[in-house]
Amino acid sequence: MHFQWYPGHMTKAKRQMQEDIKLVDLVIELVDARVPLSSRNPDIDELGKHKFRLILLNKADLADERQNQAWAAYFRGKGFFVVELDARRKNAMKTIQNTILDACREKIERDRRRGIKNRPIRAMVAGIPNVGKSTFINTFAGKACAKTGNKPGVTKGKQWIRLNKNVELLDTPGILWPRFEDQEVGMKLALIGSMNDELLNLDELSLKLISFLKEAYPGALADRYQISEEREQAADILKEIAENRNCIRAGGELDYSKAASLVIDEFRSGVIGRITLEWPEQEEKETDETGQR
Ligand code: G4P
Repeated sequence: MHFQWYPGHMTKAKRQMQEDIKLVDLVIELVDARVPLSSRNPDIDELGKHKFRLILLNKADLADERQNQAWAAYFRGKGFFVVELDARRKNAMKTIQNTILDACREKIERDRRRGIKNRPIRAMVAGIPNVGKSTFINTFAGKACAKTGNKPGVTKGKQWIRLNKNVELLDTPGILWPRFEDQEVGMKLALIGSMNDELLNLDELSLKLISFLKEAYPGALADRYQISEEREQAADILKEIAENRNCIRAGGELDYSKAASLVIDEFRSGVIGRITLEWPEQEEKETDETGQR
């Protein structure tokens, strides 16, 4: 799903989120494990500041396992509950249910002290487009879960999905906008396929990807494309990929654009390997250098 955001869309999305968030105890925020910071929304911390918080590092199957663990530790260090996830699979759902209870323990205890029984935790899912919100809701809630809502006493128009006797989930996710005005962030979101490809310069994007891979995942390109990574310039590596993969135009010239799309597609689908584009250690270094973030 590709979105183009305009100020009007952002205001509307934010207003909707402000309304919905009032109804819940817990915000389940999905981020893309390949770019856990770049796929976060700038405003969610402010919007969710009085709520319990759970971050799902989604698409963890496409990201580097070592970095998944490093990011989980990073967010835990900031007070979030965290689960690494492939939202298409049901296997993590028990862990998530338990983590929801852990995250909301304070509320559960408070209710118990006050003699309130059977008040389920209410949760909402939020995140920027394409991080897997709908997939998660479908997998997590499944078809078996009864929908509640539009009953007396339930906010009109809101559908709640009852997951079990302890947890209800708002069935529409909060959609938030990415920080695309930051060029680095925009580039990473483009690489994971969260921007409209028609508006992108894929040739340039592929060169950025090749430079990054050569530096951060030495050997990944060499293994996949039987090329040498010794070359200085990313453009030379792209040329070799075009040659090895027979990316040739009708006139016999090399088709760089075809090779660029190939590398980007193969990165996105995980064929080049499990790759994470930003690492917490770099993040912490930058924070130290600038003293903020
Ligand atoms: P959204 O509601 O947040 O916008 O995201 P959505 O669930 O539509 O998911 C976007 C794409 O990401 C879907 O691919 C979905 O299958 C895929 N996806 C979601 N979670 C995971 C995950 O944990 N791992 C992997 N590998 N993929 C995941 P799609 O329908 O094929 O869309 P597209 O890829 O054609 O854009």
